[in-house]
Amino acid sequence: MNPDPVPHRLWGGRFAAAPAPTLEELNRSLPVDIRLWREDVEASRAWARALAGAGVLTADEVQRLDAGLAAVAARLEGGAPDAADEDVHTLIERLLYEEIGALAGKLHTGRSRNDQVSTDARLWALRAGADLAQEVRSLQRALADRAEAWLDVLMPAYTHMRRAQPVRAAHWLLAHFWGMQRDRERLAHALERVSVLPLGSGAIAGCAFPVDRAALARALGFREVSQNSIDAVGDRDWICELVFVAALIGTHLSRLAEDLILFSTEEFGFVRLPEAYTTGSSLMPQKRNPDGLELARGKAARLAGAAAAALGLLKGLPSAYQKDLQEDKALLFESFDALALLLPATRETVAGLELDPETLRRALADDSLLATEAADVLVRAGVPFREAHGAIGALLRRAESEGTSLLELPESVWAEAHPAFAAGKPRLSPETAVEARSVTGGTARAAVVRQLEAARAALGR
Ligand code: ARG
Repeated sequence: MNPDPVPHRLWGGRFAAAPAPTLEELNRSLPVDIRLWREDVEASRAWARALAGAGVLTADEVQRLDAGLAAVAARLEGGAPDAADEDVHTLIERLLYEEIGALAGKLHTGRSRNDQVSTDARLWALRAGADLAQEVRSLQRALADRAEAWLDVLMPAYTHMRRAQPVRAAHWLLAHFWGMQRDRERLAHALERVSVLPLGSGAIAGCAFPVDRAALARALGFREVSQNSIDAVGDRDWICELVFVAALIGTHLSRLAEDLILFSTEEFGFVRLPEAYTTGSSLMPQKRNPDGLELARGKAARLAGAAAAALGLLKGLPSAYQKDLQEDKALLFESFDALALLLPATRETVAGLELDPETLRRALADDSLLATEAADVLVRAGVPFREAHGAIGALLRRAESEGTSLLELPESVWAEAHPAFAAGKPRLSPETAVEARSVTGGTARAAVVRQLEAARAALGR
């Protein structure tokens, strides 16, 4: 028994006519916020109990409202209707009327869509945030697993995209692990601030019935209740934080993707991407394109855009709820949806990576990678580093002009470059260079083993 002729509206008493169709279309958020139906039902069931606690509803009324909401949930479980309702709150109230009649009209007592929508969206975000953290963690695990397998493989590391020094392949891969670890920490902190209950704030001034908000928060799994109703209905800081965290995760995925794209080119050839994570060209038969990784780079741009849009939404907005804020959920959903696609695909790509030892050996044969190491030999003999740097620089210049390499220069030339080399040129290799770097955070085997242990500990095993 719906007392309101279709379409059901949560307002309209003071209006002579329905809104213009163009405004109706613009205003309608149901296609976006339908995703909140579970949270809306859940928060409504808790609200009904809170109203009973405040003496607004009888025990029998709460029981009927609760059963009605359960029936609405069961209907929505079977597929959300293609309804014309303004938003998910309107839809659920209309369905509740269909289930239990006029009593449905008591549920919205003391509540506004302003505190309702923020409560629903926060509940959604708490769950989606936990899932997101798990996905990031799975990718980190894949990185740690690959790193462990590559502990004894060396590769050139690059700064300014120029060959710099040899490192362990595990060390390079784990570099991507730690950014993601910080992402998970950031996400956990942000979720603490999401876990604040707005319900009970009404439209702006607070609820006029003595609901037990602390009990409501406990029932819905929130950490605490908001302290200011005006702030509670207008606060979207948490959306900004979540979309920023998502954008940074996207940025980290994009940087990992760029390393993998570059290192898998014909020119580098250090790694091979698993075939199932590449696609072909419609024209060039030889191509195996890294589309998934390219899309990680591409989607990072949109994720960053969402973070900028969230801040733009708040900047200059008067306090409390304004309709602009309806745009918040699309940003949140879009960001989380993109990561839900990107993270598993990236994890599987990482899990299927292979190294090409032959190409790596050839790249490591460039002994200019050992120039720093050669200077360090002088330092160990008591030579000031600046002087050592100059001496090795001169040797490199000499090698270049003679069309040879640093270690191929004859002993006599080394001895000439610095008296400390009079006894002979140093024995240098990529292995000695990496093993010299045994500090915490360095690339020596023992240091990388410790790093892997720290990574496993961060994953909580
Ligand atoms: N669909 C709205 C939103 O997402 C719900 C809140 C509307 N509040 C209101 N007073 N019109 O923001």
